[in-house]
Amino acid sequence: MVERPNKPKGLGVATPGLPPQAIVTFSDDNSRVRAELPTGESVEVLLHGATVISWKDAAGDEKLWLSSAAKLDGSKAVRGGIPLVFPVFGTAPDHEQTKQLPQHGFARTSRWEFLGKSTSESGLASGGANVKLDFGLSSAAAGLDPLARERWPFAFNLIYSVTLTRDSLATGLVVTNDGEKPFDCQVLFHTYLRVDDISTVTITGLSSTPYLDKLLPAGTTSTPHPDPLTIAGETDRVYTPSSPSAEVVVSDAEGPKFRVTRDNLTDVVVWNPWIEKAKGMGDFEPKDGYKQMLCIEPGSVSGWTTLEQGDAFEGQQVITLL
Ligand code: BG6
Repeated sequence: MVERPNKPKGLGVATPGLPPQAIVTFSDDNSRVRAELPTGESVEVLLHGATVISWKDAAGDEKLWLSSAAKLDGSKAVRGGIPLVFPVFGTAPDHEQTKQLPQHGFARTSRWEFLGKSTSESGLASGGANVKLDFGLSSAAAGLDPLARERWPFAFNLIYSVTLTRDSLATGLVVTNDGEKPFDCQVLFHTYLRVDDISTVTITGLSSTPYLDKLLPAGTTSTPHPDPLTIAGETDRVYTPSSPSAEVVVSDAEGPKFRVTRDNLTDVVVWNPWIEKAKGMGDFEPKDGYKQMLCIEPGSVSGWTTLEQGDAFEGQQVITLL
């Protein structure tokens, strides 16, 4: 038999197949959905609250902080990850429509429906398919927290989208008024970022803007501080940057870690409970976990968004790994 040194390689091997797609799976008990990109990045969302409870990079490193005592069984809001705040931020005793609602509303304590996944090709050039997971909750949904039906009698529809790319996670909410009565609402993504050591963390992008310090008596507005912001004690502030597109960058001793950008969200809440507050929260573990977390919470919370019949509001945050 004649040897052919330049014999062509098997054609079948080189034939391009379909581009690799993200894999989306449900947990056995149907309580959560997980998406993994072909390159290894992953996100996990609990249907309770549509709470993102994990976001990992390709190396498997977790980017969000989740309390080891967080209740994941639907009995209360999740301590950590990205709880969703709607239709009220905190409590609003002076706001007629929402004054009876519990802190941060009912989106985080309702069971959402998984509406499906979609993939986009925008990530293919960089070798990874992006994946978007959509979740829904409406005033007619079986999973709605019964408190909502009792205390917030409006017809609404929420679509929550969680988009994973190789280097970012985006969460976006569309709120629609499906009823005849107008309603007021606030929206916020309560992101618990995981940091190595809070004492080395610096935050840029929040200088030159007055902020509401929730630790001071109501109505006290604090004067702007220079960049960067550091955290050395309990912190609970609502910033309203003058530029709606201003980005917030979180760095540590090794350099920049996260960039947070906002779309149609006027405010950024910065929260760390520190020692005493952490001790007082039964579901906050380990107690010194405040050293490994920082909440950077984009939202629309310093005022109210009023939606008339058929109106919709849409807001999104994008967290990029640096
Ligand atoms: C922050 C608020 O968004 O959430 C804080 O600004 C609050 O005031 C914190 O303490 C945690 O809230 P909760 O309801 O999850 O304990």
